[in-house]
Amino acid sequence: MRDFDAVIFDLDGVICYTDEYHYQAWKAMADSIGVSFDREINNRLRGVSRMASLDIILEKYHGELSEAEKEELADQKNEIYKKLLAQMSPADLSDEVKSTLDELRRRSYQLAIGSSSKNAPFILRQIGLGEYFDAVSDGNNITRSKPDPEVFEKAAKMLWVGAKRCLVVEDAVSGAEAAHKGGMKAACVGDASRAGAGDYNMKSVKDLLEILP
Ligand code: BG6
Ligand code: MG
Repeated sequence: MRDFDAVIFDLDGVICYTDEYHYQAWKAMADSIGVSFDREINNRLRGVSRMASLDIILEKYHGELSEAEKEELADQKNEIYKKLLAQMSPADLSDEVKSTLDELRRRSYQLAIGSSSKNAPFILRQIGLGEYFDAVSDGNNITRSKPDPEVFEKAAKMLWVGAKRCLVVEDAVSGAEAAHKGGMKAACVGDASRAGAGDYNMKSVKDLLEILP
């Protein structure tokens, strides 16, 4: 018997790369209030929700901001971010990721997205995967961000698959932690793989084809 019935993919850093757009948008927002922001801080925002990301950036802000002012700053960042996302197209989906997804589907795994991003549906449409996944669990249907397992638990529920039968694919350590807290196994790429955070630490997404017969 196979070990898994479903694969739940994180979006940013696994299916496509929006890091640079997050960086540029947060940088513009941080510049506008005179807060220093660099790529090192940007790396800490991986998998973290929009408001929690803002709190991390504001660690360097000397002053008080009301909740309404914070919302406004987050909105300001998101408007810039969405303009950058609008430049994305199916060319931003690599052949390797697309052919891996297609092969997993051919092997009859259920495929879902588990992303902290409220922009996930927009990004998926931009890269031509708007209707592709069997379930999309994202920043719009959760109240707690990774490393809380909520986003993956909701994805599993949408698929009607038990946690133990789901494999989560992540690039963030907080995402691998979320998978484990939800009773799921994690296959990691990128940062999380280098940190050895996964049950499987892969060189690239296509290595899933070795794990999932
Ligand atoms: C995650 C990113 O996918 O989404 C985080 O890794 C980001 O960096 C989070 O903060 C929330 O994104 P959005 O699109 O809802 O602002
Ligand atoms: Mg990610």
